[in-house]
Amino acid sequence: MLIAPSMLCADFASLRRDVQQLAAAGADWLHFDVMDGHFVANLTHGPLVLKAVRQDADLTFDAHLMVEKPEQYVGEFAEAGADFITVHIEATSAPHRVLRHIRELGKRPAVSLNPATPTSAVEYLLGEVDMVLVMSVDPGFAGQRFIAAVLPKIERLKCAAADAGADVLVQVDGGVNADTVGRVTAAGADVIVSGSGIFAHPRGYAAAIAELRQRAATETPNCSLRAR
Ligand code: DX5
Ligand code: ZN
Repeated sequence: MLIAPSMLCADFASLRRDVQQLAAAGADWLHFDVMDGHFVANLTHGPLVLKAVRQDADLTFDAHLMVEKPEQYVGEFAEAGADFITVHIEATSAPHRVLRHIRELGKRPAVSLNPATPTSAVEYLLGEVDMVLVMSVDPGFAGQRFIAAVLPKIERLKCAAADAGADVLVQVDGGVNADTVGRVTAAGADVIVSGSGIFAHPRGYAAAIAELRQRAATETPNCSLRAR
């Protein structure tokens, strides 16, 4: 399991320090939540902020675009140094085209789906993406409660990718912490995003990350055994 702290919970006045501390604490990726005030009811940062700290950690930089018309911005995020660029299926009328564009830019394309969106909305894209991001809260804010009803979607997507022979990571984002990580990983998550679970941990980043690893499930879904 890979751990991607959500930089939404970082101290923006000391972003470089947080980036360096998270790298030292054992984070695998850094997850940047980009919000436009339209697709979600919150505003965060754009590509310049990601670019400003890109050289401060030798980790995978993961840009989660919660913006309308992401096709207008993927070029800037590629230029800023994002490794993965995730667009929401609900935010574009041309998902296939924007995912292809991300690949052409030399970056790793990913598609995300909100809790209300069925897995069937993205299954046709499994051959185009390196990752599917399953939202486990309504996007827009950190610190929300995990929606357990999305757990079957994680397993369904993991197994749909296996059936299609597609090498696709499943990432889960929203309310993932020491209490929920076991169920999320048992359902098949490869990458977990955690905001408050890491930043609000009483014993600091390294302890939070170690605890997440320790509580991750060791058994993952056996897709060949499941009912079809
Ligand atoms: C929500 C964001 C998440 C979120 C994670 O829109 O995509 O990355 O901030 O924070 P927690 O782990 O606190 O839910
Ligand atoms: Zn996110």
